[in-house]
Amino acid sequence: MAHRTLFLLPGDGIGPEAMNEVRKLITYMNDELGAGFETDEGMVGGCAYDAHGAAISEADMEKATAADAVLFGAVGGPKWDSVPYDVRPEAGLLRLRKDLELFANLRPAICYPALAKSSSLKPEVVEGLDILIIRELTGGVYFGEPKEIIDLGNGQKRAIDTQVYDTYEIERIAGVAFDLARTRNNKVCSMEKRNVMKSGVLWNDVVTAYHKAHHSDVELTHMLADAGGMQLVRWPKQFDVIVTDNLFGDMLSDVAAMLTGSLGMLPSASLGAPDGKTGKRKALYEPVHGSAPDIAGQGKANPIAMIASFAMCLRYSFEMIAEADRLEKAIANVLDKGIRTPDIAEKGAPTVSTVEMGDAILAEFKALA
Ligand code: NAI
Ligand code: MG
Repeated sequence: MAHRTLFLLPGDGIGPEAMNEVRKLITYMNDELGAGFETDEGMVGGCAYDAHGAAISEADMEKATAADAVLFGAVGGPKWDSVPYDVRPEAGLLRLRKDLELFANLRPAICYPALAKSSSLKPEVVEGLDILIIRELTGGVYFGEPKEIIDLGNGQKRAIDTQVYDTYEIERIAGVAFDLARTRNNKVCSMEKRNVMKSGVLWNDVVTAYHKAHHSDVELTHMLADAGGMQLVRWPKQFDVIVTDNLFGDMLSDVAAMLTGSLGMLPSASLGAPDGKTGKRKALYEPVHGSAPDIAGQGKANPIAMIASFAMCLRYSFEMIAEADRLEKAIANVLDKGIRTPDIAEKGAPTVSTVEMGDAILAEFKALA
């Protein structure tokens, strides 16, 4: 039997509610499909702070590091707004990203046909959309030095942020993009601003050379990032995988996400480098949304973002492509049937609870066997 280790970090607020719906899928896949998931569970965020004064304990960090994949719910809430900066709930997530060296952030934009009507774009522009934005997460202008505000002494100040990228950082994010493109439609578009930024020139050169040396079977195109933003809104279906730096990726992934709907629907993944021995990448999967304290504990949370994050985990950490496709199809079918949590329901339409949505997706997943 396969041996797959999963470390669950439900976190705070609606995190645990959403994670419960993934647990049902894991149990079913173990019992009926012989998936061989071995799960362990830890604490992260406010609940971890309450338990032991840190946003994640050393013991849980070790388990997260050892696991094939981490499933993360959400952290934070008003209860912890005034805790010290370095132990605030978000510190748990930042620590995981840093220690696991999760340099590649994957944000899919999938438009389920049943929700195409609720997009701000025309339904035909977004219906059936399935693209993946890969954002470099640990380098670039958010981290480059110098980073400071200088008092010029003449009543003026000067703010400096520095965009820095080294060859290896560009190669490893390009490697993720090409690898993942092979599991999809074999097409990558790299975005930068080589017309005005030296980092864009290097980005373009390195991606081009890396492609030629290792991945020439994948179709590669280049686009200036501002033009890319226009094209994402004009005709997003022209893309499959987009790879870009930290800053452009932050913006372009938010634009792409909103082509398709509610925060309660959006999954994400963060990947690290392949292990020298096993070739496996460290990985963390999480919904884009936060802990939603306004609806926590009321059974109103939409578990789809968390469940779709698990589908990404099946696809990218365990190469369970058929099961990932089947789970995404189950979500689409449930939406086709008109089953809605409050966040994606039309005004006055009937809604289901978190648990009912999870049950419906599990039932559909079983039916698709
Ligand atoms: P949020 O994403 O928690 O909520 C924003 C709005 O979207 C709320 O009205 C919420 O009810 C709704 N919403 C979010 N997820 C939903 C879901 N699955 N189903 C239905 N409705 C959903 O962002 P907000 O309110 O800015 O932050 C709340 C807390 O979460 C804060 O403490 C913040 O720091 C934390 N946060 C944590 C993140 C993480 O764990 N990765 C990311 C973003 C915020
Ligand atoms: Mg953002």
